[in-house]
Amino acid sequence: MKKQEESFLNASDFGKDFTWGVSTAAYQIEGGHNTHGKGESIWDRFRTKSNTILNGDKATISCDFFNKYKEDILLMKSMNINNFRFSISWPRILPNGIGEINNDGINFYNDVINFCLEQDITPWVTVYHWDLPQTLEDNGGWTNRSIIEWFSEFVTVCANSFGDRVKHWMVLNEPMVFTGAGYFLGVHAPGKKRLKNFLPAAHHAVLCQAQGGRILRRLVLNAQIGTTFSCSQITPFRKNKRDKATAIKVDALLNRLFIEPALGLGYPTEDAPILKKLKPYILTNDMENCRFNFDFIGIQNYTREKVKYSLLVPYIRAKIVNASKRNVKTTLMDWEVYPPSIYHMIKKYSAYSEIKKIIITENGAAFEDHLKHENIEDKERLNYLQKYLYQVLNAKREGLNIHGYFVWTFTDNFEWAEGYFPRFGLVYVDFKTLKRTIKASGKWFSKFLSN
Ligand code: GCO
Repeated sequence: MKKQEESFLNASDFGKDFTWGVSTAAYQIEGGHNTHGKGESIWDRFRTKSNTILNGDKATISCDFFNKYKEDILLMKSMNINNFRFSISWPRILPNGIGEINNDGINFYNDVINFCLEQDITPWVTVYHWDLPQTLEDNGGWTNRSIIEWFSEFVTVCANSFGDRVKHWMVLNEPMVFTGAGYFLGVHAPGKKRLKNFLPAAHHAVLCQAQGGRILRRLVLNAQIGTTFSCSQITPFRKNKRDKATAIKVDALLNRLFIEPALGLGYPTEDAPILKKLKPYILTNDMENCRFNFDFIGIQNYTREKVKYSLLVPYIRAKIVNASKRNVKTTLMDWEVYPPSIYHMIKKYSAYSEIKKIIITENGAAFEDHLKHENIEDKERLNYLQKYLYQVLNAKREGLNIHGYFVWTFTDNFEWAEGYFPRFGLVYVDFKTLKRTIKASGKWFSKFLSN
């Protein structure tokens, strides 16, 4: 503890009302992909196509949270973690997306929720964390405007089944990532490409985000309703005018596109003219229906991006310069370790007077871990967390609108297209034996929370 940055020692520096927790997602931890009546999701299908997931990894068993949830929640408890963010798998409770309810699926989440409450752990539920039922994708998925009705049915089932006990809700996880990677770049499920898929998917996600909020508000008494956004500080690669203008455009696309309509500010078309192409999908009253007064906004930050103008990229004319090409410290995701990014994001979103409360719903890092004599000395992750937290503390001390922090993630898990290669957990998982081992970072976090 020499340097100033590491001189804060415990959670109490952030005040007693600050919320601390860990974040996960159903598809990344549960496994049990086809048991107890669960339907197929777009990720179950995506992995069967060739070259979609690194090393051909599959999440059929993953961390087996489906069977090991008690063990994990008890471990959480032993680490002084008392807020647990997880998501509901849509096809586990509605195997065909709509219609028949799978009671085994409902019972599973009831068991998880009840066990959390017994251990004094508050459940924070993400309604949608990317595992769309395949049947709905067969009908166009997020590109079909009917998704608004399908999604409404899903949210209604969640609210009616769990809302008596779950009071903290997040409607969507990172709409920019599931529409951008899933319906534009094709690198995530369902593997669709092109602007003609991305644009309707994005607009429908914006409508569903608000619609989900309204349904939860109506059905859940005393709910705290939020939704989450990915965000990265965007800076120009070179100091020239073109790169500076490019940075403004990319910031509008990556950091503003999904939140501003919810706040009643419309789409940021002035800074990202490509968004004018959304027009044909916007029907009467849509911009009004995009609005919802969220109780909190979850922001998820890992890194910053440097961008440059590029004539070669159609429509967007912008390119992200990979961290590995910039001679900077990176994580296994090739994301730059740049702690001030989280401070800048808190500051950026604090500037929206319409936002009531900001919570960091994800932050964390993947580095190589080595299990030696039942120990994992993950110094880089520990360092990363401390440095980012110090930036959060700075933001808090400046009086910015920041009220909580969730680490991504509790146990190592299935990292989408990257499979099991990047380990983000505070707890190591041996994916052969499923044994859990708390890493040094996890021990530190637990001590940090103990005061
Ligand atoms: C995300 C997710 C997580 C990822 C994490 C690390 O939003 O991308 O919520 O599912 O695993 O962000 O990439």
